[in-house]
Amino acid sequence: MDKLIIRGGNRLSGTIPISGAKNAALTLIPCALLTEEPLTLRNLPRLADIDGFQHLMTQFGVSTEIHGKRPEEFGRVVTFEASRLTSSIAPYDLVRKMRASILVLGPLLARAGEATVSMPGGCAIGNRPIDLHLKALEAFGAQIELTQGYVKAMQPDGGLPGGDFDFPVVSVGATENALMAAVLANDTCRLFNAAREPEIVDLCNLLVAMGAEIEGIGTSDITIHPVKRLHGATYRVMPDRIEAGSYACAAAITGGDVRLEGARADEMQATTRALQSMGVHVEEDAKGMQITTNGSLKPIDLTTAPYPGLATDMQAQLMSLLCKAEGKSVLKETIFENRFMHVPELSRMGADIATEGRTAIVTGPVDLTGAEVMATDLRASMSLVIAALAAEGETQVRRIYHLDRGYERLEEKLQLVGADIERVGDD
Ligand code: EPZ
Repeated sequence: MDKLIIRGGNRLSGTIPISGAKNAALTLIPCALLTEEPLTLRNLPRLADIDGFQHLMTQFGVSTEIHGKRPEEFGRVVTFEASRLTSSIAPYDLVRKMRASILVLGPLLARAGEATVSMPGGCAIGNRPIDLHLKALEAFGAQIELTQGYVKAMQPDGGLPGGDFDFPVVSVGATENALMAAVLANDTCRLFNAAREPEIVDLCNLLVAMGAEIEGIGTSDITIHPVKRLHGATYRVMPDRIEAGSYACAAAITGGDVRLEGARADEMQATTRALQSMGVHVEEDAKGMQITTNGSLKPIDLTTAPYPGLATDMQAQLMSLLCKAEGKSVLKETIFENRFMHVPELSRMGADIATEGRTAIVTGPVDLTGAEVMATDLRASMSLVIAALAAEGETQVRRIYHLDRGYERLEEKLQLVGADIERVGDD
């Protein structure tokens, strides 16, 4: 297993290219199942999770063709073609490696009339149930069976009748599965209290490009009108707002001056507001944003929430930054039950963080010192990298396969702006 060696203290300066969004790509790829025509996705990030999803798609007989992007460039173009499905079963040994695989349930049901998907199980940040995914499909008329760790979804002969579903809790994945199931239903489907994340908008925009008829895109009430079939499309994946927010924190903690090329500021308002409240200067333009910090950081109180609230995926990274703020900050994590795994590791680097349930109190400013630390989950790992960039001395971050799931060529991007960081094989 590889590890990262980071020597802190360099002020980051220059331009970081932002890649396609992992959490958009993971719901755009399964849309290829909804048509027998080719679906070409551009700006796909080169990530372990994307490779994993591509492999999963071949299980159903989907062909994938990677168009020749030179390896030194970021992102790539891939064409998926599901002209004929050979299976509608997503096996345990693939789903357990990547829980986003559950996002094939809706499209497989819509295209093949049935789907059998291993239940994804939990992960480090929580038990991650899928009850809302199943309730939404049932509301549209699907029959759901749970047997031997698998979900089996079937639609009545003649297709999915359609219906309404009011989400008791906002769920990104359940909204995505419901949308992909609804587009080929026999009658109108309506979702209430649906997730409004930009990745949902990206999904709706792709489905419309494939011929779907959707009203209320970007709002919490979405109506999907029936169409007989969907056709292929070529679509560019939106930029990754969490990657951009993560590098903004990296720039800010080093007192740096970094341009995030390709970041869409209008999709990151809650993060931008948090940074500005801390005293970070954020300048937005049509092609990206400039992050400048030239002074002390102020403490702030943050609470994660569904979009347009502050993304839970930004909590760990902002916590690292708040270790350098002059005073006490209170962070409340309202989405997942166990998303403070980075706290013990940050404490080993000198952070002063007290946690009580889903609340963390960060006291700063502290002098962070390098240490050997362990990555536990994707965003926690990034919080350790951010702290290491400002720490005195050397930090070794182990188990960075977590990072490779969500950050395309992280060390290369940070080297572009002057970080002293290298990837080495872990002895
Ligand atoms: C998506 O996960 C993202 N993953 C997560 O990003 C992100 O943290 C999360 O949305 C929230 O924004 C992808 O898009 C691949 P949810 P998802 O369903 O869809 C509960 C990252 O770091 N819930 O919105 O699984 C759930 O337990 C990852 O990139 C149910 O109770 O999240 C949680 O408390 C981590 N029943 C809350 O809803 C359900 O059926 C929000 O979860 C589904 C969810």
